[in-house]
Amino acid sequence: MQPADRAAWLRQELERHNYLYYVLDRPEIDDTTYDLMFRELVDLEADHPELRTPDSPTQRVGSAPVGEFGTHRHAVPMLSLDNAFEEAELRAFDDRARRELHVDRVDYHAELKFDGLSLSLTYRDGALETATTRGDGDMGEVVTPNAKTLRGVPLRLRHPVSGLLEVRGEVLLFKDAFDAMNAERAARGEQVYVNPRNAASGSMRQLDSRITASRKLNFFAYAIGAGPTLAPTQSGTLARLRDLGFAVNRESITARGIDELLAFIERAQSLRSDLPFGIDGVVIKVNDLAQQATLGFTNRGPRWAVAFKFPAEQAMTVLQGILWQVGRTGVVTPVADLAPVFVGGVTVTRATLHNMEDLSRKDVRVGDTVIVQRAGDVIPEVVGPVLEKRVGDPPHPTEPERCPECETPLVRKPGEVALRCPNRQCPAQIAAALRHFCSRGAMDIEGLGAKLIDRFLELGWLSDIPGIFRLHERAAEIAALDRFGEQSTSNLLAAIEASKTRPLDRLVFGLGIRFVGDRTAKDLAREFRTLEGLRQCTYEALLAVPDIGERTAREIEAWFEDPENHAILDRLLEAGVAPVEAEAPVGDLFVDEIWVFTGKLEQFSREDAEALVMRYGGKAAGSVSKNTTAVVAGPGAGSKLVKAQQLGVPVFDEAEFLAKLAAAGIEL
Ligand code: IVH
Repeated sequence: MQPADRAAWLRQELERHNYLYYVLDRPEIDDTTYDLMFRELVDLEADHPELRTPDSPTQRVGSAPVGEFGTHRHAVPMLSLDNAFEEAELRAFDDRARRELHVDRVDYHAELKFDGLSLSLTYRDGALETATTRGDGDMGEVVTPNAKTLRGVPLRLRHPVSGLLEVRGEVLLFKDAFDAMNAERAARGEQVYVNPRNAASGSMRQLDSRITASRKLNFFAYAIGAGPTLAPTQSGTLARLRDLGFAVNRESITARGIDELLAFIERAQSLRSDLPFGIDGVVIKVNDLAQQATLGFTNRGPRWAVAFKFPAEQAMTVLQGILWQVGRTGVVTPVADLAPVFVGGVTVTRATLHNMEDLSRKDVRVGDTVIVQRAGDVIPEVVGPVLEKRVGDPPHPTEPERCPECETPLVRKPGEVALRCPNRQCPAQIAAALRHFCSRGAMDIEGLGAKLIDRFLELGWLSDIPGIFRLHERAAEIAALDRFGEQSTSNLLAAIEASKTRPLDRLVFGLGIRFVGDRTAKDLAREFRTLEGLRQCTYEALLAVPDIGERTAREIEAWFEDPENHAILDRLLEAGVAPVEAEAPVGDLFVDEIWVFTGKLEQFSREDAEALVMRYGGKAAGSVSKNTTAVVAGPGAGSKLVKAQQLGVPVFDEAEFLAKLAAAGIEL
């Protein structure tokens, strides 16, 4: 056989076996035979580079790194779904659908809600052309080489589809692959991922697709974004997608009416812990596409689908001890040391106990069997003890008198529950402050995680935040650290360099001023625009910012008055940190006004509405006070609406707000 024919045959056979294995779950050959065929194709392509094709299975092992990800506009926006948490909400959804469709019963397609990251795959004339992450829903990052490494993604469709076909689905890291990967990372002294979703997301965002390939990610298709209609129903569409070569999860049903739907949800919930991948609910879609079209969309998402979210997962385990942890502002909090337990998709060994008051209220004691809860991305917490299982009468936990890290006597300000270490040089505080500064939501310095920070602190290469920007002086020493090397060093230094021009609010958040979370940091950046402006802020000016109360204003004022902090800022500026200033308003419709949005809005999200008010010179607040100009209340508005009515603050509905915009000539 000619090399060209042999290569074509191998490609076809290998893809067929991929399909049998990952889509149909019905392999015909063993792994060794597959590997031999694969090797043969790799060798053939190496000898005859002209035989290489973009859809060759050899492309699945990844390729040389790209400099950065491009962006791509989705042909159809990737919307999100409304959530339901209770049966009553599902019944309301069903009532509305039946009413609007004028039928007694609606058939739904119910699918698992995969807890990974969504991906859009564009095929042109049957060949995979682009793969894009969700991004902001309109534009995403192009991760095509990474997508080619996914199991369950065909590089070429198994049947002809001419023109464009955009397929959507979820990228997942299965639980066993996640555990294996974290075990390896831990062994190499690298930071472990907190859960399979973060790991999948991190893996898809690798510039080097060979790393993505090594992570063994899966993909499940669940919808079509753009392209021809493949079938008249959602269930039919999924069957066609499977036929075309996509992995489609089989745990789904077509439910005839709400009762069958509820039964499926119950089943999914009991299946959950036994599934090889994480799910966080069930997605319910009107099965008939014609009925979907009748129901249509709002700006946020389809009116023919809803996501039923499972409640937080709980598990029982034993409280082995209580550790006292020093945070970045010196607050000392109790942390539960738990016998390892698998809950909410991760193995948990630590959980927060909040503070001493909470601990006493819950009456948790060392040795107790406790209930641990974990919801979404939040830190696991101890809900309380299982009193029936308590053995004897273990002693009540007591607070430490000295800092567990630096032995400084702890203090408590009058009226506060927080216990604090007053020593600003406390190593635990410094480490925590550095971790916070480098974290995702703050300066987002990739690669400078907890482990490396600790190492640099131990070595004396780092002792405070501005020191991060002098690490380049130690490039050679860093590269000489074991398990590091030139490439990692230059990546790290590039990440540090890139962080110098983060938006101002990220820097402000990263500084770790007490009570200044990401939202307050955004408010501050918008109000004061520049770092210089913020440095000169007065208590009065701070109080004038909506949502900043006296306590927070005092903390911020004190922070900026402290000469040590001034020195930190000066050193950051000297090192070239140049935060990007907040966007200036483009109009004055809302000047001197404070707006509050509450309840459900149809046309935009609350964040978008707030951004709009700010773009036109106003302020947005999260709570209603006598200074509030107006409240826009949608369906489901609660206490904020009541408060506005009590205070006599004008209340508008969304239509009135839109009319105000339209009258001023502002287009959405
Ligand atoms: S369909 C128009 N089906 O859930 C929206 N989404 O808020 C079409 N997800 O980020 C989405 N499993 O990534 C759909 N079986 C499933 C899903 C699913 C998980 C995710 C999706 C999106 C979110 C929806």
